[in-house]
Amino acid sequence: MLDGRTTLSKFLIDTLDRRPGPDAASGLSALLIDVAASIKTIAAALTRGALGGQHGSAQSVNTHGEEQKKLDLVTNEIFLQHCEWDGLLAGMVSEEMDEVYAIPETYPRGDYLLAFDPLDGSSNIDINGVVGSIFSVLRRDGDREGDARGAADAAAFMRPGREQVAAGYAIYGPSTMLVLSVGNGTHGFTLERDVGNFVLTHSDIRIPEDSCEFAINASNERFWEPPVRRYVQECKDGRTGCRAQDFNMRWIASMVAEVHRILMRGGVFMYPRDFRTPEMEGRLRLLYEASPMSFLVEQAGGLSITGRERILDVQPGALHQRVPVILGSRHEVERIQRYHGEYDRGEDKPFTSPLFNERSLFLPETEA
Ligand code: F6P
Repeated sequence: MLDGRTTLSKFLIDTLDRRPGPDAASGLSALLIDVAASIKTIAAALTRGALGGQHGSAQSVNTHGEEQKKLDLVTNEIFLQHCEWDGLLAGMVSEEMDEVYAIPETYPRGDYLLAFDPLDGSSNIDINGVVGSIFSVLRRDGDREGDARGAADAAAFMRPGREQVAAGYAIYGPSTMLVLSVGNGTHGFTLERDVGNFVLTHSDIRIPEDSCEFAINASNERFWEPPVRRYVQECKDGRTGCRAQDFNMRWIASMVAEVHRILMRGGVFMYPRDFRTPEMEGRLRLLYEASPMSFLVEQAGGLSITGRERILDVQPGALHQRVPVILGSRHEVERIQRYHGEYDRGEDKPFTSPLFNERSLFLPETEA
């Protein structure tokens, strides 16, 4: 008896399986149920905290040269085990694996591609802070129903984010939530732990168009481009500056937690282009961080850009490609995009702060 509540399965059956016509997303709901099962297993593992014996470093590095935590590897394995067997996937990509994970030959292959970050914000693990998982689902190009198809290669994943058929994240906070979009709005489900159901608690989330809250790692300020410096300076100037209102700042060091806050009450999250290292456009990964989060934000009425273009239109060139990310409340993101345009055209007026009066003051820095 559901007492009129909508569980994740009911939502997916109503939304996907009963969708009429050629758009019927065959198998997608079953795949998303497997993803949700991964999330429940991860939530249970995280809840044990230090008692689970999984805290600390795995003494290895991922494809980005970042230290892997034991839980990065454990949660990656949980995703693989829950999703490889179901005959719905052609391949998987994750932050923790250098190459595409080929579905073992013992299992049938399907038409979907899954990209995921199994444990976002993992630096928060050892301080018992909020972490998350992010996932993105694409439908493989080409003929639709083939079961004798080869394993998906990296090229199969090189598709812009606007082609995602589903995207979502889990947030492991005081409660565990799954926030999901299959292209008909962004919806939040809360895990009823004792029963094991995800229950729809936040239907059709809308991001307020205006906001006075921003999130950015301010320790990187010297590496930012002038348009981002301009925006942040104006926020910090508060009611005495040109915005004539006070702003608030937050930084949780978990993209999931920042995006969740923005979906709940608005705001802007930025990990912008910076010049910390010459080859590094931004910090966040396109396929399994920026793309799915941009899909969720746009489906909730917000915007998500690199500064200069819509993230969902970025054509990936590599599995672990990074991209600058500026997302959140529509009017604030539009303002930041305008600042980039004005800067690129040399039209930006002297900023409020004397620091910005001379464009020539900005010189890209690189780390020694
Ligand atoms: O790698 C992704 C991530 O952990 C995001 O979840 C988060 O927004 C960011 O990196 C934190 O970066 P920093 O270490 O600069 O605070």
